[in-house]
Amino acid sequence: MKKILVMASGNGSNFEAIVEYFKNKDVEIELLCNIEGANVINRAKRLNIKYYRVGFCDTYEFLKEKKYDLYVLAGYMRILPHNILTLGRFVNIHPSLLPQFKGIDAIKRAYLSNAKETGVTVHYVDDEVDSGEIIASERCKIEPDMTLKDLEEKIHSIEHKLYPRVIEEIL
Ligand code: GRF
Repeated sequence: MKKILVMASGNGSNFEAIVEYFKNKDVEIELLCNIEGANVINRAKRLNIKYYRVGFCDTYEFLKEKKYDLYVLAGYMRILPHNILTLGRFVNIHPSLLPQFKGIDAIKRAYLSNAKETGVTVHYVDDEVDSGEIIASERCKIEPDMTLKDLEEKIHSIEHKLYPRVIEEIL
């Protein structure tokens, strides 16, 4: 039995996709959320997943008492300090083909750049933002008639398929 901790701050659609994927598999999932009232907490309640609401400043103290096989960032909107990263393996998903469009609003910036394609990247986390060794990526064409919303939907559906599979492979 492997145990993973998903760390999220917002909507939680990737969290839900991960929970669904591992439903009948030998993987236990818990959630850590740093934001009170975030939608991801509603999802955890509905999906019957154990969750912890831990403010960013208390995160190291909290995590050092626990043990997970993998820490999975899924829209966790803080930069993790080095002491946290020494606790285990951390992976992140980012909605662009890294190293392009690091940081926030990556889908929108790709869309407005008139690029012909963007994508999704899963990578190990290191001390810098959206940096660290790339594990997997998938391309996504930006069709001329696409709205920003269309592109966002397409990117998220790629994320929801790619991330659980990559996590399983790492485990
Ligand atoms: C995703 O687009 C992910 O790539 C980025 O943050 C977003 C989180 O979305 N790191 P959700 O909360 O999983 O719906």
